Amino acid sequence: MLQTVSDLADLRYYGKKVLVRVDFNVTLNDGVIGEDYRIRMTIPTIEYLTKRGAKVILMSHLGRPKPTTASQSAPDGSYSLAPVAKRLSEIVLINKVTFAIDCVGPVVQKEIDDMHMGDILLLENLRFHREEETNDSEFCGQLASLADIYVNDAFSTSHRKHASTYGTPKLFDKRVAGLTLKKEVEYLSMIRDKPLKPLTLLIGGIKIKDKIGALEKLLLKADTLLVGGATAYTFLKANGTRIGNSPVDDEHLPWVIKALSKYRNKIMLPTDHIVSPAQDSQSVSLAKGDIPDGMIGFDIGVETSQQYSNLIASKTSGTTFWNGPMGLFEIKHFSNGTIDIAKTMALAYWRGSKTLIGGGDTLEAMKRAGVSEGEVSHVSTGGGATLRFLAGDEMPGIDILNKS
Ligand code: 3PG
Ligand code: MG
Repeated sequence: MLQTVSDLADLRYYGKKVLVRVDFNVTLNDGVIGEDYRIRMTIPTIEYLTKRGAKVILMSHLGRPKPTTASQSAPDGSYSLAPVAKRLSEIVLINKVTFAIDCVGPVVQKEIDDMHMGDILLLENLRFHREEETNDSEFCGQLASLADIYVNDAFSTSHRKHASTYGTPKLFDKRVAGLTLKKEVEYLSMIRDKPLKPLTLLIGGIKIKDKIGALEKLLLKADTLLVGGATAYTFLKANGTRIGNSPVDDEHLPWVIKALSKYRNKIMLPTDHIVSPAQDSQSVSLAKGDIPDGMIGFDIGVETSQQYSNLIASKTSGTTFWNGPMGLFEIKHFSNGTIDIAKTMALAYWRGSKTLIGGGDTLEAMKRAGVSEGEVSHVSTGGGATLRFLAGDEMPGIDILNKS
């Protein structure tokens, strides 16, 4: 059993510095934060610690900036966590939130020396230092020297063996899970190891590679797999359907062919599609069955959407897991399939099915459909991490934590 922040006596935190790995890797458009779910999900742990008199030091990465060394030019400011610190201060209100312009070194030490009990300090993007991703031991030592206790509340980054998720916690005697990480692990373990049946999987998006591990594990237990999004075209090609110029993942086609032959009776593929010659073309039409040459599929069609929706909404028990949009939902005329599915997921939840959503895109799609987080049993903070966990892969950032 993972040890969590609540397993330590309250007094352990009084006046102590607690280094918390969070995942504030949110979408930023010109400094404006898009979906802030990942930020909000760290609040229970942050509040737990501040209420017990801790000085909370938060560290995170943001995006994939080109790392620099001290001798090189300044890091790319568009990856700065400064806007996140501002957003965080708007959410926590009563605690003081400050921001450090680096994540190690004298500037950070000075900020920490000035902290009082209950204060929160967010460090600048860890990935501004190349040593984060290489799990450099000296860098780990520098991070570890900042605090007395280590907490990981970044489930969505726990598949990475980086300094902040792996090398640094190793240097702490006390390294425990945050409240949200613990909840994620419990929920996803249930889906992976003993899902309430029937288990329905709904897979969209584009990257088949990321989903193979999870599918291998879950298909054994699943009753139905509904395939949509760009992933569907590789399945359709493997099935002998014509797909026009739709994207195909040829590298993973052999795996798809194998999965189809083994689980054909469990797998449902789209029977119609919203097609267009190009993403920005105004000529959009519906193709039943085969997709004509020169056309690209951008969304599931009306019939498919109805079939999938009927199946999902008919569930009054069991588990439904959704990862990946059904089409290019960012563009209005390719968003209907995804929006229908999002609304249907909410219906299944209200009727008593356990519903789980994973992947940043999927949450965004859900919001666009007007479905709230409260209409899903569990929204995972992870994308890649969720799929890895479901596949039973190693999770260095979780495996390294104290067990009881
Ligand atoms: C994510 O968004 O999946 C996590 O924050 C991890 O980011 P990464 O894929 O760049 O390591
Ligand atoms: Mg990722």
